[in-house]
Amino acid sequence: VLPGLLAGVRALVTAGPTREPLDPVRFIGNRSSGRMGFALAEALEELGAMVTLIAGPTLLPLPCVTKHVQIETALEMYKAVMARVAECDLFVATAAVTDYRPAAPAPTKIKKETEALTVELVRNPDILAEVAARRPAPFTVGFAAETDHLEDYARDKLERKGVDLIAANQVGGLVGGFERAENALTVLWRGGRKELPLMDKHRLARELALLIAERYRAHAGG
Ligand code: PMT
Repeated sequence: VLPGLLAGVRALVTAGPTREPLDPVRFIGNRSSGRMGFALAEALEELGAMVTLIAGPTLLPLPCVTKHVQIETALEMYKAVMARVAECDLFVATAAVTDYRPAAPAPTKIKKETEALTVELVRNPDILAEVAARRPAPFTVGFAAETDHLEDYARDKLERKGVDLIAANQVGGLVGGFERAENALTVLWRGGRKELPLMDKHRLARELALLIAERYRAHAGG
């Protein structure tokens, strides 16, 4: 490892899922365990970055980073990011932000009184896109979780959200993605790409952190 590669760099990393309450006991969420994001936060810190990790609910022990912020919903994650983004040089969005939330969560437990239940959902803000659109913006790294057309959809996210680098992973298959100990990534940036084959998420995170550091330094002119 090259411990000083990101010395003095202030990094903001999101990880894990968000939970969107339907009522006081139920929520809409997703399968993110936080493994990939926690491993990446730790790998960036190992390269010398000062990492603030903003994470949704997970069962994992917290990684060794400079600062932790725990949140539950996408709106809380959004507020936690926006409160800190002006003081960061590098933003890494590993979180699986739940894209929609119930428009009006019930104040008390929903009773089984009808055969069918319709819940109105409203869009959550796109944290990554909003951070990338800031001027000045930090160096932004996004993830793309896709079940199909991995590289095409990821390249589209890179352009549409205006991020500097995107790490695409296949989800919903038999290997890698959510919850598992291993993952594989196709990393894309304007004018380049690199395949990181299936490996343990800790090792993968170290390889990705090195690539991020390389692109960050090229971008910063050093
Ligand atoms: O946590 P694990 O179990 O280890 O699983 C890891 C992972 C599969 C969750 C991770 O590797 C991953 O792919 N994270 C991104 C999941 C995701 O929500 O992807 P997306 O393609 O829907 O979103 C694209 C990007 O926009 C992501 O960087 C996401 O953090 C960001 N986003 C999305 C929606 C939103 N409202 N705000 C965002 O910032």
